[in-house]
Amino acid sequence: MAFGSATNIVATSLDSYDELIKKYKNAYANLAVLKNLGANVLHGVDATQMKILPDLRWKKFHRIIYNFPHAGFHGKEDNPDLIMMHRNLVRGFLMNASSMLWHDGEIHVNHKITAPFDSWRIEDLASECSLLFMGQDDFRIQDYPGYENKRGSGSRSDEPFPLGECKTFKFKLCHAAEKFLNVPVNIGEHLVSIHRQPRLSPFIFENGLTLQNECRRIFGGYLNHVEETFGSTSYDVHRSVVEALRLGFEMYMGSAQWRPLSGYIGILEELRNLSILRSERLRQMLLRLDQQHK
Ligand SMILES: C[S@@+](CC[C@H](N)C(=O)[O-])C[C@H]1O[C@@H](n2cnc3c(N)ncnc32)[C@H](O)[C@@H]1O
Repeated sequence: MAFGSATNIVATSLDSYDELIKKYKNAYANLAVLKNLGANVLHGVDATQMKILPDLRWKKFHRIIYNFPHAGFHGKEDNPDLIMMHRNLVRGFLMNASSMLWHDGEIHVNHKITAPFDSWRIEDLASECSLLFMGQDDFRIQDYPGYENKRGSGSRSDEPFPLGECKTFKFKLCHAAEKFLNVPVNIGEHLVSIHRQPRLSPFIFENGLTLQNECRRIFGGYLNHVEETFGSTSYDVHRSVVEALRLGFEMYMGSAQWRPLSGYIGILEELRNLSILRSERLRQMLLRLDQQHK
């Protein structure tokens, strides 16, 4: 409402529309305001799976915000199993959000910082997702006129929970390469500056990651839609490709502390294979179309 327009906002809930209307007395009116202002409102969105949804898959955001993530009221908040559920939710959200950001975008999470909520250690979760912790601001509810925090689950979903001391945790993509040496490298005919670790360790993918998955994770958006990924249509495609390679390299290096260059070269080779497969699929599609029109 402060912006006077919400055409550049996507607002999501885990609950379906019907569940929202049942759970919250102001849901109907709030949803109407959002829709009238042009927001894209999506329901049934699991934050830990959101990046693959057809409505979100090719979108990039400048800000992705989750106010007070919470996996539900299942006993005492200091129960280690419950803390693990909360942490899994935040990790899943950060992991998804990190691949939905513009390169200069930010993820904001509002969270309580008193015990036991401090033991979620969300900065650590962010670094597992190649995100850099930018810092935290005090969260003051009075800065958000109209916002009412809600428990969100259980029989008292529509009631507020005590806020206490809270912060807005801010994260951005880890431009990990800044930590590494700057090495000019030839990509095609173009000399681009990419970065290299001072020491190389053997060719390893951590946590059972496969080459194919890593390649799809890093270049998936680019492979399917260059302009949607890098935005400005004033970019020529060639520049976008070089930028994609640079960002891909930073994502690769940012995913773990020690990653060898040979791993990135493997990813580039996989990217090339995928491009060849894609061209072949396109060729066959065109041939089929051609035959249908004969
Ligand atoms: C403490 S409430 C906060 C609600 C609201 N964001 C606020 O600030 O008042 C936690 C919210 O997390 C949502 N949630 C829990 N698991 C989720 C998931 N996997 N994906 C998306 N939202 C989830 C719940 O539906 C609930 O609305």
